[in-house]
Amino acid sequence: MALKDGQTPVVIGVAADSGCGKSTFMRRLTSIFGGDVVGPLGGGFGNGGWETNTLVSDLTTVICLDDYHSNDRNGRKVSGLTALNPLENNFDLMFEQIKALKDGKTISKPIYNHVNGTLDTPETIEPTPIIIFEGLHPMHDERVRDLLDFTLYLDISDEVKLNWKIQRDMEERGHSLESIMASIEARKPDFDAYIDPQKKDSDVIIEVLPTNLDKEDKKTLNVRCIQKDGVVDFSPCYLFDQGSTIEWTPAPTKLSAPAPGLKMAYRSEQYFGRDCQVVEMDGSFDNLQELVYVESALSNTKTKFYGELTQAMLALADAPGSNNGTGLMQTLAAFAIRDIYEKKTAAAKKVKQETTTSA
Ligand code: ADP
Ligand code: G6P
Repeated sequence: MALKDGQTPVVIGVAADSGCGKSTFMRRLTSIFGGDVVGPLGGGFGNGGWETNTLVSDLTTVICLDDYHSNDRNGRKVSGLTALNPLENNFDLMFEQIKALKDGKTISKPIYNHVNGTLDTPETIEPTPIIIFEGLHPMHDERVRDLLDFTLYLDISDEVKLNWKIQRDMEERGHSLESIMASIEARKPDFDAYIDPQKKDSDVIIEVLPTNLDKEDKKTLNVRCIQKDGVVDFSPCYLFDQGSTIEWTPAPTKLSAPAPGLKMAYRSEQYFGRDCQVVEMDGSFDNLQELVYVESALSNTKTKFYGELTQAMLALADAPGSNNGTGLMQTLAAFAIRDIYEKKTAAAKKVKQETTTSA
């Protein structure tokens, strides 16, 4: 959808390591915003070719920051640096192009081709009302960060990352455990130096840890949605009573959960010196329909009607994390983004009306 006269796009940054659920989150987000998807995310479509990393729907454009790699794969072999190193990414161009889109201008964005590791002919991107920048470094450069209206960091702990990689690369793609561990270890120094520090600058952090309910259990997840206080146009979601400290075991007759069970919690905490509110779900559930019971205990979900949260989860029941807190917290974050968009759009409309009336 083209911008209305004078409309400024709302720009969101989503950071995470690769293989940590960014594409899944984008599916949840675009599903909530609705609209026809007219271009794919993740590339590699069509006749085995690679055309774009960009996803466009009526309302949203999702831009993958891999497109701002400064070198192609061969160039990185020469430099000896990984794609996680800021020196391998063109932050000047990233800044210029995000700014241009915010100013309502069309850009010519590079494309990083993941199949053959080349930088392909740039593509034309027109601004849409919502623009999502997802990738390794949306919050790394201060100039870029200042342009973002809301930021989300998907913080997957090392242990969980390894389990997901084993599941995908070993069980589904036949890689060896040694090669998976070696690739994680090889990325870790640059990940720790350049990607992980961005979480302290994020408005919401979804932290995914192994369960606390059974030390032997390697598959069940404990998911914490850390929501900063004092973020413009964003007020945290909470369980039962804002400002309280709550530990809740939902009635198993209303939300059936496989071993080791399911617990929820809510409390205020400090995160890198900032006040925040944390909603936590440890464990998974058997029946997505029953999530409506948890939804009834949550407030400030930014849904438009009771049941909308559960409905959004049901719409993507096949996506990873739909039986645990990863799907729930990602869906809550997606509703928060919709709410921010609506608030900013309404405020801009009001200013425009006032200017027109006083002119
Ligand atoms: P990214 O876009 O960051 O690379 P994806 O959303 O494509 O990540 O997820 C990559 C893989 O990680 C999935 O195919 C799945 O194996 C695993 N994964 C992601 N999110 C979850 C989750 N919530 N629960 C279990 N596995 C997950
Ligand atoms: C890592 C990053 C990607 C990046 C890729 C490039 O996997 O997480 O974001 O695009 O490296 O490297 P490659 O040479 O494998 O295409």
